[in-house]
Amino acid sequence: MSEEKKILYSGMQATNALTLGNYLGALKNWVNLNEEYDCFFGVMDLHSLTVRQNPTEFRQNARKLYALYVAAGLNPEVNCVYYQSHVPAHAQLAWILDCFTYMGELNRMTQFKDKSQKHSDNINAGLYTYPVLMAADILLYQTDVVPVGKDQMQHLEITRDIAERFNNIYGNVFKIPEGYIGKSGAKIMSLQDPTKKMSKSDENVNATILLVDDKDTIIRKFKKAVTDSDANIKYDVENKPGVSNLIDIYRCVSKKSIEDIEKEFEGKGYGDFKLAVGEAVANELAPIQEEYNRLLKDKVYIEKCIKENDEKAAYFANKTLRKAMKKVGLTEMIR
Ligand code: TRP
Repeated sequence: MSEEKKILYSGMQATNALTLGNYLGALKNWVNLNEEYDCFFGVMDLHSLTVRQNPTEFRQNARKLYALYVAAGLNPEVNCVYYQSHVPAHAQLAWILDCFTYMGELNRMTQFKDKSQKHSDNINAGLYTYPVLMAADILLYQTDVVPVGKDQMQHLEITRDIAERFNNIYGNVFKIPEGYIGKSGAKIMSLQDPTKKMSKSDENVNATILLVDDKDTIIRKFKKAVTDSDANIKYDVENKPGVSNLIDIYRCVSKKSIEDIEKEFEGKGYGDFKLAVGEAVANELAPIQEEYNRLLKDKVYIEKCIKENDEKAAYFANKTLRKAMKKVGLTEMIR
């Protein structure tokens, strides 16, 4: 980690198989920001516990997410790629920050309201204080920028509010982080209902491209993608959401502009276009999948990365934690 670069922090929950949406909307952007910032990327496994998990599957999913981070290009020898639960400072700072967060603020969180409805049999305190743990994640590393999706912006706002409140009382303990919404703004929609976000929990398997889908599956799903009846390859999110989503996907994997793509497919049919998008996606994912499968088998290497990065993260996190503990008046441990 260098002194002059700004610090970037982000992470994903370790719950399910990742989708093309997670990749194009987040992971690929992180890879692009790699050089500009000193980066921390967490496998956010503590957050996943807010919903009941099958322990065996959960552990495997966390390992898979770690391997996918690395396979996608987050080099663990340059960035800090680590497990949230392996750095106890997250839970410790979250407790302190809990005591600086008002229930009124947490009551306003739209994700809490949504999730309480979805999991009405398990509205636990962790679900409620989820944004405070997220604030701890971010603030521990003196983060400058946090690339997050729109759905997490409210959590970033509360992070800033908590940090400012704390700093107003105790001086400059935390850096106030800024949100970062990717320039491409790639929000990938369902292939079956292009007005809905592509989601790993979609019941229709054809709606979602998984990062681990093979080439035939990818092409088959793109061929079945819902479009419209006027056979014109034009970008028009309102009137042609299906075609526009495919153009967005193609744009992200080909680096071509919307105009270039429209020109490339002028006079051609949807069949040709869907095949081209499917192939481009499959080609982009192939090397990642190959590396991912290799990494999952190379336990020694992965575990060495995890261990070293857990330590690296803990070093930075503990510096901030110690400062916060001292400021609030907790007694320092005698070693
Ligand atoms: N809540 C985020 C999500 O579900 C994951 C997350 C947890 C996160 N802690 C974070 C993202 C800190 C950015 C920074 O997407």
